[in-house]
Amino acid sequence: MRKKIVAGNWKMNKTLQEGVALATELKNILAAEKPNCEVIIGTPFIHLATLSELLKDSVIAVSAENCANKESGAYTGEVSAAMVKSTGAEYVILGHSERREYYHETPEILKDKVDLALANGLKVIFCIGESLAEREANQQEAVCKAELEGSVFHLSAEQWKNIVIAYEPIWAIGTGKTATAEQAEEIHAYIRKCVADVYGAQAADETSILYGGSCKASNAPELFGKPDIDGGLIGGASLKAPDFKGIIDAWK
Ligand code: 13P
Repeated sequence: MRKKIVAGNWKMNKTLQEGVALATELKNILAAEKPNCEVIIGTPFIHLATLSELLKDSVIAVSAENCANKESGAYTGEVSAAMVKSTGAEYVILGHSERREYYHETPEILKDKVDLALANGLKVIFCIGESLAEREANQQEAVCKAELEGSVFHLSAEQWKNIVIAYEPIWAIGTGKTATAEQAEEIHAYIRKCVADVYGAQAADETSILYGGSCKASNAPELFGKPDIDGGLIGGASLKAPDFKGIIDAWK
C-alpha cells in the first residue's frame, strides 16, 4: 500500500519563533489525536535544525523547500543536500513552480538537485504541473511527462522508492482556484501511468502522488477520495495549525 501524505510547504513565511510556535501546536494536536497519514512540514532552511529536534519523537517529519545543485564549495548563500540532511530533516521539496519560475531552475539543475538529495539520504517531494496557458492548450499531460523525464526518470528503481510526486497546477497555487477532483484525478492517473511505463506497475502503485494548489479542509475530502490522489502538498492552509489539521482529518 502506498503512503497517504499531507505535507505543508511554508514557503517564505514564519520567523524562527513563529515556526517553533506553529510546529509545537501541531505536535500537541497530533499527539492527542493520531493522524491516519504521514504528516510532513516543509520549512525554510533556518527552521530545520530546531524543528527536527523539536519533532524528533513526534509523528511529524521535516522537509527542506530546496537544496543546492552543487555538492559543496564556493557557492555563497547556498545550502547543500548534506547540510539539510545534517539538520535531521528527512525530505526536500524540489521542482516547485516558484523555484522554476523565479529562480530559473531548469530540468538539468533540478536533476542535479534530485541526485544530490538522494545521494545524501534525503527523500524528495518532486513537484510538476502546468501553467494556465498550457492547461488551456490541453498540454498538461505533455508538460508533466516532460518534467518527469527531465529530472527524475533517469533514477534507478531503487532510488525511485524515495520519490514522492506532487502535481501542482500553477493556475491553482495560491489563487483559491482548485482543480476539480475529476481534473486532478485524470492527471494523477496519467502520471501514475507514466511512472508505470518506466518503473513497472508495482512501483507505480507504490508511488505517492500528492495534489497541491488551493487545497483546504473543505475540498480535501473530495480530492483525497479519488483513487490516484494520495494526499496533498499544502501552502497557505499549512500556516495555521487548525487549517492544516482540517486537511489531515480528510484521511479519517
Ligand atoms: P497553496 O496551497 O497556497 O495554493 O500552495 C500550494 C503550493 O504551492 C504547495 O507547494
